[in-house]
Amino acid sequence: MRDGLGFFGRFLRNPGSVGAVLPSSRYLSKAMVGRLDLQPGELVVEFGPGTGPATAAVREVLPKHAQYLGIELDPRFHRLLTERFPTMAVHHGSAADLRTILADRGLPRPKRILSGLPFASFPAPVQDAVIEEIVWALRGSDGDFRTFQYVHAYGLRAARRFRALMRERFDGFERIGPIVRNVPPAFVLRYWGAK
Ligand SMILES: C[S@@+](CC[C@H](N)C(=O)[O-])C[C@H]1O[C@@H](n2cnc3c(N)ncnc32)[C@H](O)[C@@H]1O
Repeated sequence: MRDGLGFFGRFLRNPGSVGAVLPSSRYLSKAMVGRLDLQPGELVVEFGPGTGPATAAVREVLPKHAQYLGIELDPRFHRLLTERFPTMAVHHGSAADLRTILADRGLPRPKRILSGLPFASFPAPVQDAVIEEIVWALRGSDGDFRTFQYVHAYGLRAARRFRALMRERFDGFERIGPIVRNVPPAFVLRYWGAK
C-alpha cells in the first residue's frame, strides 16, 4: 500500500515519465520474467524498475553468476531500489544511454532486456532513442526484449507507433495475456531477432 501511495505521488509529479498510477502486480512481473534462462556471466538489464516489482521477480530466479543492472531515471525510485535491493546494481540515469552506461561499468551486451518504460507516454524522439539502444544491444544475439502495455492504452497512437517500429526492427514477436489480475490489465510483449 505504501508503495502504491508513493508511486502515485511520483506519477502526479512526472506523469509522462512514470506513466502508471500503480506499480505492477506480481502476476505481471512473473509474466515479464518467465524463461529468463541466463548462463553464468550473462546480463539482464531492466529499464525503469520503479519501486521494483519485476526486480523482486528477477531476484527470485537469477542464477548465481548471472548479472543484473537496473536503469532508473527517477532519483527517489533509484534511492529506494538501492535500499531495497542492496545486492543488485541499479544505475541512476536514462535507458537512452544504455551503450555508455554498459561501457562505463565494463558490462557485456545484455541477453535480456525487461522494460517498465511507459513508451505510450513518450514523445517520438525518446521512443526512437530507446529503440536504437535496444536494437544495438540485441542485434546478432538470441536474447530478447520484454515490455508491457496496458489494455486500455493499447490502441493509443504512441503505443501503436512503438509496436510498429519494433516489428520493423525485430523478426520475432509474441504477445502474452492480457494479464487480467494486474490493475489495470496489461499485455506482455516479447521481441527477438533484432535486425
Ligand atoms: C510505468 S513505471 C513502471 C515501474 C515498474 N517497472 C513497474 O512495473 O511497476 C515507469 C518507470 O520508468 C522510469 N523511467 C521513465 N523514463 C525513463 C528512462 N528514460 N530511463 C529509465 N527509467 C525511466 C520511471 O521513473 C518509472 O519508474
